[in-house]
Amino acid sequence: MSTARIDWISRPAGALQGEMIVPGDKSISHRAIMLAALAEGTSRIDGFLEGEDTRATAAIFARMGVRIETPSASSRIVHGVGLHGLHAPDDVLDCGNAGTGMRLLAGLLAGQAFDTTLTGDESLKKRPMRRVTEPLAAMGARIDAEPGGLPPLRIRGGSKLRGIDYELPVASAQVKSAILLAGLYAGGATEVREPHPTRDYTERMLAAFGWPIEFEPGRARLPGGHRLRATDVVVPADFSSAAFFLVAATLVPGSRLLLRAVGLNPRRTGLLQALRLMGADIREHDAREQGGERVADLEVRHAALRGIEVPVELVPDMIDEFPILFVAAAVAQGTTRVRGAAELRVKESDRLAVMAAGLRALGIAVDETPDGADIHGGAPQGGAVDSHGDHRIAMSFAVAGLVARDAVRIADCANVATSFPGFEALANACGFRLDSGVA
Ligand code: S3P
Repeated sequence: MSTARIDWISRPAGALQGEMIVPGDKSISHRAIMLAALAEGTSRIDGFLEGEDTRATAAIFARMGVRIETPSASSRIVHGVGLHGLHAPDDVLDCGNAGTGMRLLAGLLAGQAFDTTLTGDESLKKRPMRRVTEPLAAMGARIDAEPGGLPPLRIRGGSKLRGIDYELPVASAQVKSAILLAGLYAGGATEVREPHPTRDYTERMLAAFGWPIEFEPGRARLPGGHRLRATDVVVPADFSSAAFFLVAATLVPGSRLLLRAVGLNPRRTGLLQALRLMGADIREHDAREQGGERVADLEVRHAALRGIEVPVELVPDMIDEFPILFVAAAVAQGTTRVRGAAELRVKESDRLAVMAAGLRALGIAVDETPDGADIHGGAPQGGAVDSHGDHRIAMSFAVAGLVARDAVRIADCANVATSFPGFEALANACGFRLDSGVA
């Protein structure tokens, strides 16, 4: 989505201090727009992530005739059109960088009366889509992809969908959600079982919008043939965005940061557990419910870290946090071992390869394996790394620059705007020394 190339330079800095609220949760923001658009009535979304990914999803529904107002930044008023009220768009639908957008929309659009085409940026066009097109085809959807099951996806309308009982081969909330959203349009019941429970935002939000759904960790089941009723959604701050500051303050001596109202859904907070096993000092204050999700203020202070073997059962609960965990591991004493994380190879970049290459460029020894890595903690030097257009890699190396011996130059950072608009300003406000240049 971002056209101008932005490079960053992150310099070693002193203690980080301050309080902040990081932007709204990306996963919840995507789903809130989708369900509000398909609901009957008007829904208000507060805390909406003003990122490129979630705005792309909102723009897609606007193209299909949904009126979406922006009363103020991070709020949307969505005039839902009902399950069958979308119009055929006049062009292909561009999901930008968003795997969540494309996979969930594939399920939802499979049930429409009209044809659609979903496309995305160069990164998204390399991401595997068979994981959704195969189960959707088993439900009766007709979706053509490029060779290798890659986007664009051409989805034919007018298909009669039927419910499915599907056991996911990989733990993926996106695949689960695509099937459940197709299930809204299917005859009969749709059931999904997962090898390890994944984030349950689709299930919780369907219930909040009035759809009868049964779910428990690892399983969800819903009948077709009901309606969604408008409701208001309050989106908590994104734990995955907070993660960069949790690690930054942990690593820089003398630091103390307070991150307000962070979403603590247990399917997202594996990194908290991993960091605590490594010796981090992160406290939860004022734990409360906000919009049906558990949130708390997180207070983090500097602590020395030691390497750990990351418990394999934590992997799905911290799947987006491995880039920043790798940075923590690079500074920890001893070796950190990650296994069971092959999914990292098919994220916005091949995160195992890109993090290993970047840390090596900073003088850290990393042994890569097909499904993980051993990161041998040490003292990162300055150097030049490439984020490969991956937002989370760019922000992770910005954190590495704080504790490296010299400046870290990070190439290709514009995509940070997909998930964390304003990262640079927030980081500098608490003590980072981060500069950008547009190439
Ligand atoms: C997401 C699910 C995860 C995660 C992604 C967001 C979601 O992807 O990595 O950032 O919102 O459902 P997978 O379903 O591919 O594991």
